[in-house]
Amino acid sequence: MPQTVRGVVARAKGEPVSVEQVEVPDPGPGEVVVAVQACGVCHTDLHYREGGINDEFPFLLGHEAAGVVEQVGDGVVDVDVGDFVVLNWRAVCGSCRACKRGRPWYCFATHNAAQPMRLSDGTALSPALGIGAFADKTLVHAGQCTKVDPAASPAAAGLLGCGVMAGLGAAINTGGVTRGDSVAVIGCGGVGNAAIAGARLAGASTIIAVDLDAKKLRWAEGLGATETVDASAGDVVQAIQQLTGGFGADVVIDAVGRPETWTQAFYARDLAGTVVLVGVPTPDMTVELPLLDVFGRGGALKSSWYGDCLPERDFPMLVDLYQQGRLDLDAFVSETIGLDDVEAAFDKMHRGEVLRSVVML
Ligand SMILES: NC(=O)c1ccc[n+]([C@@H]2O[C@H](COP(=O)([O-])OP(=O)(O)OC[C@H]3O[C@@H](n4cnc5c(N)ncnc54)[C@H](O)[C@@H]3O)[C@@H](O)[C@H]2O)c1
Ligand SMILES: [Zn+2]
Ligand SMILES: [Zn+2]
Repeated sequence: MPQTVRGVVARAKGEPVSVEQVEVPDPGPGEVVVAVQACGVCHTDLHYREGGINDEFPFLLGHEAAGVVEQVGDGVVDVDVGDFVVLNWRAVCGSCRACKRGRPWYCFATHNAAQPMRLSDGTALSPALGIGAFADKTLVHAGQCTKVDPAASPAAAGLLGCGVMAGLGAAINTGGVTRGDSVAVIGCGGVGNAAIAGARLAGASTIIAVDLDAKKLRWAEGLGATETVDASAGDVVQAIQQLTGGFGADVVIDAVGRPETWTQAFYARDLAGTVVLVGVPTPDMTVELPLLDVFGRGGALKSSWYGDCLPERDFPMLVDLYQQGRLDLDAFVSETIGLDDVEAAFDKMHRGEVLRSVVML
């Protein structure tokens, strides 16, 4: 029987979100209904509401979630009713060119549920990133569910579903940070602070946090930054060089995504160092550089999409490290809120007051 649940819907560009009745169908082949327990509020949800992703309104928002599998459709073998899962937006297909080349984290044919969820008047909803988890229940593809240790807190585990994974993966997967590296992270919101936590996990010995906001720098220290740089106080490139024996850092992660921060990252590297761009620029942004500097400084200029993660490989491992006390996911949960509070959480995000607000269901 289709179920009627509550969900947070963005009906039109720029309009405040509202809690609506949402019809969740029974799962079809390969699909799963998940009873959502927790879902973090991510910048991307706000981008959807502002029409910055596409115009396929109305959206069912929320995509950083954990919950329990409630129903499975035909042919679902990897998850079962009662499993505790983190939802992901990279259910790799296994058969596209990227997958066949052995690089499934670039998969461009990822799976989502085939059936839509609907408003009570029958209008089909577009679920954010194919998930739509600011809702009591959501319908996803079975591949979007990754089983993890059920003893973990849903609020903390769910964060791996987007921003925290993006930051951790920018350091560990894309940046390839390893023991003894020096790492600088520009922009210490949820994503940048996760990159700092990732650099610590990977064994970096110098971890430099850069932000304009003193509160963010204090949070960064709690997550593993060994040095902090107030970006409003002077030359960021010089500051990073001074903190790395005059060389620059082995890996610099731009978790802001603006021309000025990316250029700082480019010049704050040691020779042959790596730049990782994880912050998302807007279409109007451009960068101009002397080509000789690109050649002469060598190294790698990379971008990180969802932390180059593979959910099946990375989520259970990171939840285990969390359970062992080696990765403080709880530090990212600034507050827990209800479904009615998502609009207020967007305001707090805008004012930089939170790393993550997490909706509890
Ligand atoms: N690549 C991906 O897969 C992926 C996934 C999720 C989010 N993101 C992107 O990552 C970025 C960061 O997300 P977030 O949730 O941490 O955002 P956020 O707004 O919480 O954090 C951004 C931080 O950057 C700081 N900042 C802004 N301008 C700065 C400057 N010039 N110098 C230094 N610091 C500066 C801010 O003070 C803030 O602390 C966003 O662009 C987001 O869209 C990317
Ligand atoms: Zn694929
Ligand atoms: Zn997100």
